[in-house]
Formats: sequence, structure tokens, C-alpha cells
Amino acid sequence: MTTANIIRDHVLNKCSWVDKETTVDSIKIGDGDKPLKKVGVCWYCSIKTIKSAIDAECDLLITHEPTWWDHFDSPGGWRDKGPGLKKTKLLEKSGMVVLRLHDSWDRWPKIGIRDSFAKALGLNNFVLESDDHWNAMYEVPEQTLKNFAGYVAEKVKPLGDDAVQVIGNPNMKIRYPSIGIGCGGPKDNMIEKGSDVLIMCFDGASYWRDRDRFAEQGVGVITLEHGTTEVSGMEAMTGYLKEAWPELEVQYFDNHWKAWHAN
Ligand SMILES: [Fe+2]
Repeated sequence: MTTANIIRDHVLNKCSWVDKETTVDSIKIGDGDKPLKKVGVCWYCSIKTIKSAIDAECDLLITHEPTWWDHFDSPGGWRDKGPGLKKTKLLEKSGMVVLRLHDSWDRWPKIGIRDSFAKALGLNNFVLESDDHWNAMYEVPEQTLKNFAGYVAEKVKPLGDDAVQVIGNPNMKIRYPSIGIGCGGPKDNMIEKGSDVLIMCFDGASYWRDRDRFAEQGVGVITLEHGTTEVSGMEAMTGYLKEAWPELEVQYFDNHWKAWHAN
């Protein structure tokens, strides 16, 4: 029978870029040796997501981001108080296992976080990637920044953003957008390689540290929510799990909090 530990070992054994001993890709709660029938996959295990997965009778929930709002989900902290304690109690009562797959899936080729996001944006014309593989640049027909931002806004609607935020001259011509992996968005490294519009997530794009300077450097910046840039990769993981373990039922859960815009 497949278990959370078997899935973890299988995935990590294929990741030369992950240190098995120090990675955050680990069992967060529950028995990693429990036999599995149904697996839930999500980007962020919010309370709503956890409840949906429990109601759907999942034995395991795979999440990309932390459980208790701490990258290392260290003992103590929110795990034992407020909404974190609510999560802990829900999970303990259900017996559902939580496994985080983050460092592995971020750089997983073709169906991992970056490449799935590119596919969701319809960026098919790959030009080059950064030396560390975190960022990639694509070619699109030459158009104004305003036009391209509108295109991105349409593409991200089904991913959770009802609008996009843009900095830069709306009439500037762009041709080489670049993307990244969550907070590890494209920066100076991709400007140096010729990118003229950076698609970043808010969590990795401070205004005064990054976005103001990028505008001064003459490029456009389109900013999205963190989840918008990563959900496609986690949805793609469901297909991988079904193929690797056909006996498992696998379901994607998209119940985390979404930001909305007013104007
Ligand atoms: Fe992330």
C-alpha cells in the first residue's frame, strides 16, 4: 500500500536540488506510514481546504506552502494558538496526514511550479532561463505593456486574481516577459538577459526594494498574488500522482483565501 512516506521518498529521490535532511518537504502531522486510498492536493492548506479534504475522506493532504504560517512549521507558535490550534485539532481528530512538497515541486521540470505557470499564461515560446533555473524568459509578439497586462489579467482569472497590478509606462513596447517561482521572481538577473516585463508575486516584490527600481531600469512589472503563480503547478501534481499510483484517488482542492480588488 502507498503511504505518505513512500510518496515523499519517491519525489525527493528524483530531486538532486533538494537536501533530504533539511528540506521543508516533510510530514507536518499524522502517521506517514498510514496506508492511503485518497489523496488531496492543494496550494495552501487553509482551514476551508482542510475541512473540504476531510469531508472528501482524504487520508493525506499534500500542500505546497506551510500549514501554520511558518516556513519551517517549527513546534510552538501558531500551531498551538488561535486559528492554528483549530487546524491542529481538526487534523488530529481526522487522522488525515499532511505532507508538504515545496522545494521539490518548485523546480520539478515541465509540470512543476514554474513551467506549469508559464503554460497557464500561454507563454510557449521559451527563450532562456536564469543560471539558477528559477526564472525563465519567453517571447511574445511585440505589444504595449498595457495590452500584455490585459492579456495576463484574462489568463489569471481562473487562477484566482480578478485583476493584475502594473508598474511602468503603459505605452512602452514589450516582447520578452519573464516569470519565476513564487517569491523567487525575475529580478535584475532577467533584466540583464533582456527581459522587458517581469511577472512577479507580491510576496517577492517589495515596492521600494524592487518594483520602483525596476521601473527606473525601464521595464514593466506585473504583480500577482503568490497563489496565482503557483496553483497551476500543484494542479499538475494531481496528474503525476495518478500516473505514478493508479490505485490512488487524487483530488485537487482550491479553497484558500483569494484576494479581491475594489475600484
Ligand atoms: Fe511559494
